[in-house]
Amino acid sequence: MGARASWSGQLAFVLAAAASAIGLGNLWRFPYLAARYGGGTFIVVYLALVVTLGFTLMLTEIAIGRKTQQSQLTAYSRLHGAWGFVGLLGTVVPVLITPYYCVIGGWVLYYLKAYAVMAFTGASPMGEAAAQSGAFFSGFISAPFAPFGYGMLFVAACSGVIVLGVKNGIEKSNLVMMPVLFVMAIAISAYVVCLPGSGEGLKYYLVPNLDCLRSADGSFSLALLGKTVLGAMGQMFYSLSLAMGIMITYGSYMKKSDSIERCVRRIEVFDTLIAVVAGLMIIPVVYMFAVKSGIPVKEAMNAGPGLMFITLPQVFATLGAVGTWVGLAFFLLVTFAAATSAISLMEACVASVCDVLKLERKSATFFTAALIAFLATFSALGYGPWKAVTVFGMQFLDFFDFITNSALMPVVAIATCVFVGWVLTPKAVVDEVEEGGRAFRAKRLYVAMVKYVAPAFMAAVLVSEICRTFKIGGWSI
Ligand code: PFF
Repeated sequence: MGARASWSGQLAFVLAAAASAIGLGNLWRFPYLAARYGGGTFIVVYLALVVTLGFTLMLTEIAIGRKTQQSQLTAYSRLHGAWGFVGLLGTVVPVLITPYYCVIGGWVLYYLKAYAVMAFTGASPMGEAAAQSGAFFSGFISAPFAPFGYGMLFVAACSGVIVLGVKNGIEKSNLVMMPVLFVMAIAISAYVVCLPGSGEGLKYYLVPNLDCLRSADGSFSLALLGKTVLGAMGQMFYSLSLAMGIMITYGSYMKKSDSIERCVRRIEVFDTLIAVVAGLMIIPVVYMFAVKSGIPVKEAMNAGPGLMFITLPQVFATLGAVGTWVGLAFFLLVTFAAATSAISLMEACVASVCDVLKLERKSATFFTAALIAFLATFSALGYGPWKAVTVFGMQFLDFFDFITNSALMPVVAIATCVFVGWVLTPKAVVDEVEEGGRAFRAKRLYVAMVKYVAPAFMAAVLVSEICRTFKIGGWSI
C-alpha cells in the first residue's frame, strides 16, 4: 500500500465535507422540522446549536482523523488501546446506513428518470391520478424488482467514483455535482419566492412563531422548549454527518498545513445555507398547495419520503407545464445531494477496510460494494416482497434508520466526548488544531463543550430518541 491519499487543498476538503453534510437531511428533514417547530424559532435554535455543539463534535472528529491518519475503525485504538471499541461501534454506523441510503438514492433516480421522460417526451409516466394519490410512489416501492435495480445502480455509481480515489474520484465528482446543486437550489428557491401568493408561506417559515412553545392553555411550556431543542439537536447531528466515521476519514486525508477550525466553520455555513434554502424551495409551495386543497398545513408538511415523493410531485403538477421542469431540476438536485453523501458514507467503509485488511483501494471498494449491495437488498425489498417481515415491528429500512440514528450515533458521540474530554484530555485535539503555531480561537468554548455540555446534550438526545421510538412519555419529535 502506498502513502495515504490526501486532498489537493483546503477548499477541496471543505467541498468534500460539505458535500457529505448536504444530503437528504437538508432537503426533506430540515424544512419539515422548521415548519413544525415555529419556523424562525427553530432556525435560531438550530443555528445556536450548530456553532457550539456541532462545531465541537465535527472539530473533534476531523482532528482525530488528521492526528492518527486512520479511518474510524483503527483511529481510536491508535490513540488508546482500550477505547478501540468506539471505533468498532462507530464503523457499524456507515455499514448500516450506506445500504438504505443507496436504496433511497435509487428512489430518487427513478423520479429523476420519470421527470426527464415527462420533460423531454411529453409522456406522463406518473399520470394525473397517480401523482394525486401517491399510487406512483407506493406502486414503485412495493414492486418486486425495480427498487432493488435502481438501488444497485446507485451503489454501482457511487462505487465507480470511489474506486477512482480521493483526488480523481471524490474531489472531481464534487467539482461537477456541488456547483450544479447550488445553482439548482438558488434557481428553484428564487422561482418559488417570486410566485404570486408565496408571502404567507414564507412568513410561516421564517418569522419566529412562539406558539410552538405554548401549551393548550396558552402558558409557556418548558417541555415544548425541550422538544424544540432536541428536534434541532437531532437534526444538526444528522445533517452534519457526525458520528458516522465520515469526518474522521475525511480528516485523515487533510494536510497538516490546513486550518481545521476555519474548515469546520465553512462546512457549517454551507450546510446550513442549503438547509435554509431547501425550506425556501419547499415550504411556500406546500403551504399554498395545502391552503388551496383544504389540507391542514401541518399535515401537508409531513416528514421524510411522503413530503419528497408524494406531496412535492402533487405540488409540481399544480404548476402546469413549468412544473415538470421544476420537478426535473429538483430531482437532479436531490440526486446529487444524495450521491455526494452516499459517496462519503461508502468511503468511510472503504477506508476502514483498507486500514484494517491492508487492501488496495480497488479490492476494498469491490468488497465493500458487495457487502452494501447484500445489505441493501433487505431495505429494497422490505416494502415489497418482504413486506411481511419486520424487526421490532419496523420495516427493514426503518429499523436500520432507528438503530443507527437513534441509538448507535448518540452512543458513539457520547463515548467520543468522554474519551476526548476525560481520558485523552482535550489537549490532544487542541494541539492538533494549533499545529504549526495556529491560533485556536474558540479553545475555551471547545474545552467546556467537549467535557461537560456535549455529553450531557447527547445523552438527552439518546433518551428522547428511545422514548420517541417506543412511544414512552408522549415524545414525538
Ligand atoms: N448528512 C447527510 C444528510 O443530511 O443527508 C448524510 C446522512 C445523514 C446520511 C444521516 C445518512 C444519515 F443517516
